[in-house]
Amino acid sequence: MATTSALTARTRARLDASARSAAARAYAPYSQFRVGAAVLGGSGRLYSGANVENASYGLCLFAERTSITHASSEGESSSVAVAVYTPTPTPTLPCGACRQVIREFGPTATIRSTCRGGAAVETSLEALLPAAFGPEDRGRRPTARRLRRS
Ligand code: THU
Repeated sequence: MATTSALTARTRARLDASARSAAARAYAPYSQFRVGAAVLGGSGRLYSGANVENASYGLCLFAERTSITHASSEGESSSVAVAVYTPTPTPTLPCGACRQVIREFGPTATIRSTCRGGAAVETSLEALLPAAFGPEDRGRRPTARRLRRS
């Protein structure tokens, strides 16, 4: 397996285990394709997520976006790494839309994918989504992330 980042072996193992256990909690009655994800936030904390499907298919939530949303809504402002697990023979990388959502908080994030088959892939968001549009392209930095409590 090629590795690209400064993640330690222990951090990789934590990310992979978190993504794998999240896949077991996926709600995927329509596709039967269970996906788990885990985000390593800048604080060092992990945030998991899984795909959550809906009878109205277009509303299905993807695991990567669920985990990014989880991290952001818990107060994380950056993503150091995102791991994905699928119960497939080969690893699955995030779809294009998920890459763009990862880009918002993790422009230099490491992306890992593991699978039931045992293989692992490790790459970077920059490699998966080169020359991406991001917050800085709006011409100014985003304003405060949180609403002030009155
Ligand atoms: N899915 C994800 O959660 N992440 C991916 O990277 C690929 C696809 C989900 C969406 C849907 O619930 C199911 O997998 C089949 O596409």
